Amino acid sequence: MVQVAPSILSANFARLEEDCKKVYSPDNPMLHFDVMDGVFVPNLSFGLPVLQSLSKAMPEAVYDVHLMIVQPGKYAEAFAEAGADMITFHVEAERDPTALARKIRTLGCKAGLSLRPGTSVEGLFPLLCEIDLVLVMSVEPGFGGQAFRPEATGRIAALRGEAERQNTPLLIEVDGGINEETGARCVQAGADILVAGSTVFGAENPKKMVEKLRNL
Ligand code: DX5
Ligand code: ZN
Repeated sequence: MVQVAPSILSANFARLEEDCKKVYSPDNPMLHFDVMDGVFVPNLSFGLPVLQSLSKAMPEAVYDVHLMIVQPGKYAEAFAEAGADMITFHVEAERDPTALARKIRTLGCKAGLSLRPGTSVEGLFPLLCEIDLVLVMSVEPGFGGQAFRPEATGRIAALRGEAERQNTPLLIEVDGGINEETGARCVQAGADILVAGSTVFGAENPKKMVEKLRNL
């Protein structure tokens, strides 16, 4: 069964704890936490103090931190201390992704690499043995609520094929424009984790929507 990581960027921040509790469960414990710095992407979101508060209030959730920031290495340790379980950074933002992935793993977190829609997926192939997951962006990072880019499915399939060829365990996560229709295409292409923001939090019943996406 696929995992769903609800992106709290689309939650109501005035009642964040309540919104989070609607969408994670022991079977599907992930929360996707989008950090934006206004430099790597043209938008600002939230950061360390918000993660600290959430992980204190809900230690049982699995915090899937997506760093859309320049110099991600500068903050990896602080995010691990604040409660991150998975830390994903962008390959375009880091000069030495292998060293940072190793550091993230020594901090006790899963290490993830993400790439913008225009970045070559083949460039990641030599790094697959150093990481736990690849986060395939199916929109240009920076904003929730954008339309899914259909070429993402081919990129997921290429990664799945290469991970099998290398015989390396790899989680493939996809982020941006996921709904029941696009999510099903991603699962078919080999995705393990679907990030969904507006589809989950915009639904009349977010909990039911998570269940629907899990059963694609
Ligand atoms: C975009 C973020 C996404 C975003 C997805 O830069 O990385 O996680 O919240 O939002 P939806 O699901 O609405 O496209
Ligand atoms: Zn994200």
